[in-house]
Amino acid sequence: MTTDSATPTDRSFLFVLGSSRPDGNTEILARAAAGQLPAGTPQRWVDLTKVPLPDFQDGRHESGSWPVGETEEELRRATLEATDIVIASPLYWYSLSAHTKRYLDYWAGWLRVPGLDFKQRMAGRTLWGVTVLAHEEEVVADGLVTSLNHSAAYMGMRFGGVLLGNGSRPGQVRDDERAMVRAKTFFERETPLARFPYEA
Ligand SMILES: Cc1cc2nc3c(=O)[nH]c(=O)nc-3n(C[C@H](O)[C@H](O)[C@H](O)COP(=O)(O)O)c2cc1C
Repeated sequence: MTTDSATPTDRSFLFVLGSSRPDGNTEILARAAAGQLPAGTPQRWVDLTKVPLPDFQDGRHESGSWPVGETEEELRRATLEATDIVIASPLYWYSLSAHTKRYLDYWAGWLRVPGLDFKQRMAGRTLWGVTVLAHEEEVVADGLVTSLNHSAAYMGMRFGGVLLGNGSRPGQVRDDERAMVRAKTFFERETPLARFPYEA
């Protein structure tokens, strides 16, 4: 886990990297967007392959507590310290990668930790997504976008949307000019409170 901050601002970003390979397209695109954040905005980068979480075990309806591993504790703290959470996941099978999905599964456990007030504390913060896909038509990433939007809505969070890029081989996203241009202003977007489609 690395932290990069110059001068403090009232926002701090947690970038959660969920590719299964190092130096992938999704990280390249996320870093291009992060490079445009105002100077001094704290950024923490977590590569989920380097801080591996065991498979999530659903103990929500069991009595008593279950052991919390060091990695889980570190990620929970990093999550609660950030105002903005950026899920940087390649498109895998039209959805989130297993690494990022597993990280989000842990949120379901954190919702039930007595005294943590996870949902109340995350409400009003902002969820973002960055994804790269091999398919040229970006519409096929709708499943991932919907998953993040609905997760933000459930949590009472804001949703900044998903920065999309195209590429297959590592580094190929750099050739997607449209994505690299979008990256420049991605974090300047409006971040409305997320809503489920049935809500007004
Ligand atoms: C397990 C797996 C599943 C994938 N599923 C899709 C998919 O559903 N749609 C798609 O367009 N590309 C798919 N791809 C291609 C990746 O999205 C693409 O190579 C992307 O650039 C990987 O990002 P990364 O370099 O950050 O890992 C898949 C790749 C892998 C390894």
